[in-house]
Amino acid sequence: MKSNLKSFCIILSLALCSFTSPKPDLSFQAQKYVSQTLTFEGKTFIVRAYENIIYVENPVDTLYQKMNIYIPEEYFTGKKVNAYTAATAPIFFPNKVGGYMPAQPATLKETPMGMGGNRPPMNGMPPMGDRRPEGMPAMPQAKPSTVVAALAKGYVVASAGARGRTLKGSNGEYTGKAPAGIVDLKAAVRYLKFNDKLMPGDANKIISNGTSAGGAMSTLIGATGNNPDYEPYLKALGAANATDDIFAVSAYCPITNLDHADMAYEWQFNGINTYKKGWPAPAKSSDAPSVLNDEQIKASAQLKTLFPAYVNSLNLKDTKGKTLTLDAEGNGSFKDLVINYVIASAQKVLNEGKDMSGYSFLKITDNKVTALDFGAYLNYLERMKTPPAFDALDLSTGENMLFGSATIDKQHFTEFAQKNSSIEASSVDELLVKMMNPMYYLGQKNTTNAKHWRIRHGSKDKDTSLAISVILTTALQNNSIDANLEFPWDKPHSGDYDLNELFAWIDGLCK
Ligand code: DHB
Repeated sequence: MKSNLKSFCIILSLALCSFTSPKPDLSFQAQKYVSQTLTFEGKTFIVRAYENIIYVENPVDTLYQKMNIYIPEEYFTGKKVNAYTAATAPIFFPNKVGGYMPAQPATLKETPMGMGGNRPPMNGMPPMGDRRPEGMPAMPQAKPSTVVAALAKGYVVASAGARGRTLKGSNGEYTGKAPAGIVDLKAAVRYLKFNDKLMPGDANKIISNGTSAGGAMSTLIGATGNNPDYEPYLKALGAANATDDIFAVSAYCPITNLDHADMAYEWQFNGINTYKKGWPAPAKSSDAPSVLNDEQIKASAQLKTLFPAYVNSLNLKDTKGKTLTLDAEGNGSFKDLVINYVIASAQKVLNEGKDMSGYSFLKITDNKVTALDFGAYLNYLERMKTPPAFDALDLSTGENMLFGSATIDKQHFTEFAQKNSSIEASSVDELLVKMMNPMYYLGQKNTTNAKHWRIRHGSKDKDTSLAISVILTTALQNNSIDANLEFPWDKPHSGDYDLNELFAWIDGLCK
């Protein structure tokens, strides 16, 4: 009798449970939309807005593991936009990840990424929306978003939220530490590919886009397609049964290759012993800089010496097949390549008619930028972070938090910081460091890398070393992947500032 009652109760609670929280249906519900009328650059158009779609069967956090999908109305009536049809329109996949924090999906209302996002401080860094070049006025709220601009181009836009480093579950355990954010975005890609037949847009033409930590995520989605390392995590989440490789990557100042970012930062900034954190107010040139202490100066020198061995170990080749190297001092053909990217950036704006006479670190003859005084350029760039810039000896950075665990908030992720830690601290599992670094996934077996990459890092961006994007681009090119890098002139840490060029690149690939 007793056991009958018990069975009855179990069955009842299971029934109630499945009634109150049914598994999200991962098939796209074409009828569940709200029509929105949008205006962009004088053009008015209608889109179907599918918002807050939970993209996994077993979500851990439904505030973030959800996606917004926007589709031009024309694709439901057999019409074309910008020469695309429902079958051929690319799917633009922007994320709003900043500072490795939890991120909501993009909506129709947001300001462009990098100019109004609600970014958290990272190692003394102000939220992204505050990080304007000196003198630049605040962006008005409610500026047309990247999403609206992309829809006007005829792209289907799908933006997924993702868990991040500060998130906690109801039991008090952390739920957004590495690799949660990238796993979420890959699960959202699987949703789109799983639903390719039910949804306008070509899921073989997914183009990810992101800035900073979001740029890093964008590179990771592109690098790690279908790699088995992520499989257990995707399985646990109940990701849709589909592949997760994508077509192309757009990344602005990706804060990536975190396990080598400290040495790259000191290779670049060693000898510059003043810094401006730029927080709480945006740094002004009139602000008095802070000065590195003796320990930081020592750490800088040690980290700098580690970088040549790393670069040399990669066996990177230039376009002529010559190996790119650095000597013990950090000089050599790899450094020349970094300098050449800065020169190319200056040349581009010079060709457009910009007065470059104020940049005394450039040598210009007959309208040609012929040389760059790298040291003087770095004085203009200015150091922003203290060594080690990412794996802080006192665990004070956002990246230390990214590499926490379910029960530990902050950990080290490099040998250098673990050895020299100023406090009692543990280190994250090596596999997780690997899973957050696209470099380890290029040209690997069981992995499908995106075929096309567009990487931008402003020439005035000091959130990470210029070397990081040069290494990534060169490694991509060496794997016969179409990768293009520019350092847009004078641009600080920001993204989506050249949407016309970005969309022209996408059209060039997809039309
Ligand atoms: C971001 C900026 C940083 O300097 C960093 O270390 C990590 C992330 C960001 O803006 O997302």
